[in-house]
Amino acid sequence: IEETLVLVKPDGVARGLTGEILRRIEAKGYSLVDIRLVEADRDLLAAHYAEHEGKPFYAPLIEFMESGPTVAIRLAGNRVIEGFRSLAGTTDPTTAAPGTIRGDLGRDWGAKVQQNLVHGSDSTESAERELALWFR
Ligand code: GTP
Ligand code: MG
Repeated sequence: IEETLVLVKPDGVARGLTGEILRRIEAKGYSLVDIRLVEADRDLLAAHYAEHEGKPFYAPLIEFMESGPTVAIRLAGNRVIEGFRSLAGTTDPTTAAPGTIRGDLGRDWGAKVQQNLVHGSDSTESAERELALWFR
């Protein structure tokens, strides 16, 4: 069985959407293996987002991820890496498809692209690396 790292980012936690997001994940049939509330520090975020270092959105992304607690979830299921990303929708909530977490719950008015509620690992290598960071 495959595992992935899902994050409910600070905007999702602050807006009280953790339950709604977990409801969608559980309704799909995925299994919660572990879950924790994390105040992510700079070291953790720099390691997690290493691939984005130097990009224009890097600094605002790190600042946003430091702005409040994140819910980290170790999630298991059949092809859960691809499946959760499909549940989440595309990166920008403004244009994410209806029926997805970002499409249904992402805010248009006044929201930044980085405020897209959730993260999901994008490959087996990323999942292994990210799970080791958030569940050390
Ligand atoms: P994650 O599941 O969070 O990794 O999203 P993703 O795989 O759809 O996006 P990606 O890994 O390319 O980028 C990581 C995060 O950086 C995104 O989730 C956004 O929060 C943020 N991000 C990506 N692209 C942009 C951008 O063009 N502008 C801004 N402001 N933020 C961005
Ligand atoms: Mg990504």
